[in-house]
Amino acid sequence: MINTINKIKKNIDLLKEYGSPLYIYDYDVLKSRINNISKFKKNLEDKLNNVRVSIHYSSKANNNPNIIKMVKEAGLLVDAMSPLELDLAKKCNFDNNEILYVCNNIDKEEMKIVHDSDILICLDSISQVEMWGELFPNTNIMVRINPGINGVGHNKKVVTSGSDSKFGICEENINKLLEIVNKYNLHLIGIHQHLGSLFLDDKVDDYINGVKESLRIIKDHFKNISIVDLGGGFGVPYKEEEKPLNLTSLSSKLSKILNEFIKEYKSVKEFKFEIGRYIPCEAGIIIGTVNAIKYEKGTYWIGTDIGMNTLLRPSMYNSYHKISLLNQRKTKKVKANVCGNICESGDIIGRERQLTIPKVNDKIIIHNAGAYGYSMSSNYTGRARPAELMLYRDKIKLIRKRETIESMEDDIVW
Ligand SMILES: Cc1ncc(COP(=O)(O)O)c(C=O)c1O
Repeated sequence: MINTINKIKKNIDLLKEYGSPLYIYDYDVLKSRINNISKFKKNLEDKLNNVRVSIHYSSKANNNPNIIKMVKEAGLLVDAMSPLELDLAKKCNFDNNEILYVCNNIDKEEMKIVHDSDILICLDSISQVEMWGELFPNTNIMVRINPGINGVGHNKKVVTSGSDSKFGICEENINKLLEIVNKYNLHLIGIHQHLGSLFLDDKVDDYINGVKESLRIIKDHFKNISIVDLGGGFGVPYKEEEKPLNLTSLSSKLSKILNEFIKEYKSVKEFKFEIGRYIPCEAGIIIGTVNAIKYEKGTYWIGTDIGMNTLLRPSMYNSYHKISLLNQRKTKKVKANVCGNICESGDIIGRERQLTIPKVNDKIIIHNAGAYGYSMSSNYTGRARPAELMLYRDKIKLIRKRETIESMEDDIVW
């Protein structure tokens, strides 16, 4: 990250051209995370007996086409969750059999798009399987199960397993599912689980337990499954005291349980993973501008142009992002609340941060913003989404233009 910040400092004049705030990604960091995941895949595959390991990049984490293309060039696959993500994957040169469509509560039109593109679909309720079956009998499908145990995730809102989750089919409903599958002669070739987003080493055992439970459910209820999808959730450290996920140890733990499964369950040919956050998160920062500083009733407030429309995670999930000033002033360090420019009291990026008091126009940086940053941004209250830039070695490339008032004004007025 120090490297990234130094590169930004060198290019600070260039940045003026693109306005404030800005998303900036470091190509080298992205590349290194893609390499780590490729190594994880190889490492795990080497330990498994003739069963393929596929990694689908979950483009919901960051769907900038330049990042999706880097994933493609590294030989990874992709998953899509909407027609737009599907189009993007195709534009980034993924073949149909390299894309997995993972969806939730979609309509017939969307199902038709997936079917006509000849993409494998993962459906996540009996009702959706019935809708698909009526439209496209005799076709291949995957189905998402809810293994029932509590999932893993950095916040309740991103836990996707257990009794409070809207996702997947629970064990007690599998017989009903199988009736519908038979009714339409569907070929149920894969089972999917995703327990939630963001686990680090201290939660790996919860993830492993979830995987074990899903494998048990597959053995007990399904015959001839060839694909088992173990979802995503691989985390990154956001706080300084947190350690990076140990992918070597994770692959050893996984290989043990997957090998036991393979011994008993002979039809399995492929394990899939859907990795989102791990790839772009640490490569991205947001650089913005301090617009106001105030001290009221014993609290410092640093007002910036990085609103909750630019980065939703802190207000949505109460997520922690490290905040720093591009150039520290020789002022005293104080505890300050850092906030954005949206008229909402939840528009806070971080509370009680130790920062030197900046001046208006100083640059401020939000770290680890590469995942679920731009992809969750909006133009709420009429504030345009920022541009995205890639730091490629010593150069800066524009990889998505700032949204303009004109593009936002295209709404139909009647
Ligand atoms: C079905 C599914 N797969 C994969 C992912 C990617 O998760 P992560 O970014 O935590 O790896 C998500 C995100 O929540 C998801 O919903």
